[in-house]
Amino acid sequence: MSALSPAWLFALCLMLLASLGSAYQPPNIILIFADDLGFGDLGSYGHPTSATPNLDKMAAEGLRFTDFYSSSPICSPSRAALLTGRYQTRSGVYPGVFYPGSKGGLPLAEVTVAELLKTRGYATAMVGKWHLGLGPKGIFLPTNQGFDHFLGVPYSHDQGPCQNLTCFPPSTRCFGTCDLGVVPVPLFLNQSIVEQPINFPRLEARYDAFARDFIRACAQRKQPFLLYYASHHTHYPQFGSQNYTGRSSRGPYGDALLEFDGTVGLLLQALQDAGVHENSLVFFTSDNGPETMRGSRGGSSGLLKCGKGTTYEGGMREPAVAYWPGRIAPGVTHELASTLDILPTVAALAEVPLPNITLDGYDLSPVLFGKGKSPRQTMFFYPPAPNELFGVFAVRYDKYKAHFFTKGDIKSGWTPDPTCSEIILLTHEPPLLYDLESDPAENYNLLHGAQASGILKVLKEARLLKASFDKAMTFGESQTAMGSDPLLQPCCAPQCSPKPSCCRCAS
Ligand SMILES: *[C@@H]1O[C@H](CO)[C@@H](O)[C@H](O)[C@H]1NC(C)=O
Ligand SMILES: *[C@@H]1O[C@H](CO)[C@@H](O)[C@H](O)[C@H]1NC(C)=O
Ligand SMILES: *[C@@H]1O[C@H](CO)[C@@H](O)[C@H](O)[C@H]1NC(C)=O
Ligand SMILES: *[C@@H]1O[C@H](CO)[C@@H](O)[C@H](O)[C@H]1NC(C)=O
Repeated sequence: MSALSPAWLFALCLMLLASLGSAYQPPNIILIFADDLGFGDLGSYGHPTSATPNLDKMAAEGLRFTDFYSSSPICSPSRAALLTGRYQTRSGVYPGVFYPGSKGGLPLAEVTVAELLKTRGYATAMVGKWHLGLGPKGIFLPTNQGFDHFLGVPYSHDQGPCQNLTCFPPSTRCFGTCDLGVVPVPLFLNQSIVEQPINFPRLEARYDAFARDFIRACAQRKQPFLLYYASHHTHYPQFGSQNYTGRSSRGPYGDALLEFDGTVGLLLQALQDAGVHENSLVFFTSDNGPETMRGSRGGSSGLLKCGKGTTYEGGMREPAVAYWPGRIAPGVTHELASTLDILPTVAALAEVPLPNITLDGYDLSPVLFGKGKSPRQTMFFYPPAPNELFGVFAVRYDKYKAHFFTKGDIKSGWTPDPTCSEIILLTHEPPLLYDLESDPAENYNLLHGAQASGILKVLKEARLLKASFDKAMTFGESQTAMGSDPLLQPCCAPQCSPKPSCCRCAS
């Protein structure tokens, strides 16, 4: 009976495992990340005049989330958390955001979803807005954070003079000047600047071609891929090409959204054309709520309270869709989920072991494949400038949200609700407590008036959750507080003078 000895069985198991392993085709992943796009900005989330046919198709044929949160109400921290599965406080991407001459960036020791997937043989590319630092000699660019290819802008496209660059035709007087006194906004290809300033009405066509070529090349090689497309469009100053200018009924924001949506359509088409659509997960969400201070040129948080920069629902609750026809059934889910969950979910789909570090995300596979409830039961809300003294400003637990602190933000101005933009830190004792199922707009404090004993239990639980979360959180060294140096601003003509305006190169 030697053939059935334990050693032989062990060897057989290994062989079986190996053959299963090689048969498994890890899925391609496309992450689509919108900028300053709020909960109410898509047709599929109730906007009456937005034209978003491709995103709406994804929503109709995919799984649409109603209770999906970004980890921060502003750009850089939100992106850090998406790519690492960790709160920005751990990685040090706080307070605020990175600037063109920032010395810091997402620490290289952090493990990005791109680095993780590369261990499984994925090809990786990023298109669009990075905003996780540039640093000396570009050490923090995507090409040093797990992305083989990068075509895009290292920060926000308003972080440089933008007058007359974002409109079609180019000679028209455009809305806004953006940030003056810094270098014109550069377009990077890997580590090199290929255009400065960027001709925005032509930018999307470049992105589209790059993304399509990447998808096609990977499919031809039969190599699984990760494509991270972080759109600039719906962030101020909105832009669009000739093909989209004046095409929507929602003004410049609607036109920009329409062009972004057009790219989403091209990406879905590229998957079809390359014959890999059956094994590709496309995930869409946004970095934070709308910048209502831009008026109708900002986005909309729909029925949610306030927007960008605040820890109210409008600042961090976002549209989100998981699209994988044949694998993910069409539907709507009210389960809790977050950008923090993307890395663990993608790791599970690709069958890559998680990095041996503290993660704040959960594998959402049960939710995606209709097999069960979300492993996420809580969400913690940090303001744009978190610190250890205050800890999290708010806690969501089940259907309840408790605000221990609130603060308005100038970016959430110009709405009829003055609390959105009042820059005063308010301490709430007892906390403001809302039932987000019956009151998603956070209008009716449950602790106002009669206090049912069931509610006091909820309050106690929220306090405990905050206390234990804050106690366990280790703040990483702040990367944005390292300051900036004008010499670190990217310049395509390093020897030119006078800086910063001389940094100009046509492509
Ligand atoms: C970008 O870098 C990748 C990986 O090193 C390389 O394969 C690719 O050719 C580079 N792209 C360009 C345009 O140089
Ligand atoms: C922008 O365009 C307007 C109208 O053509 C022109 O008057 C203005 O000088 C331009 N501004 C810049 C900074 O190029
Ligand atoms: C406009 O659309 C056409 C046809 O789809 C495309 O070939 C062209 O590149 C687009 N132009 C711009 C500037 O995006
Ligand atoms: C994970 O990291 C901890 C501490 O850094 C270490 O003690 C432990 O051995 C590691 N585990 C594995 C499986 O590598």
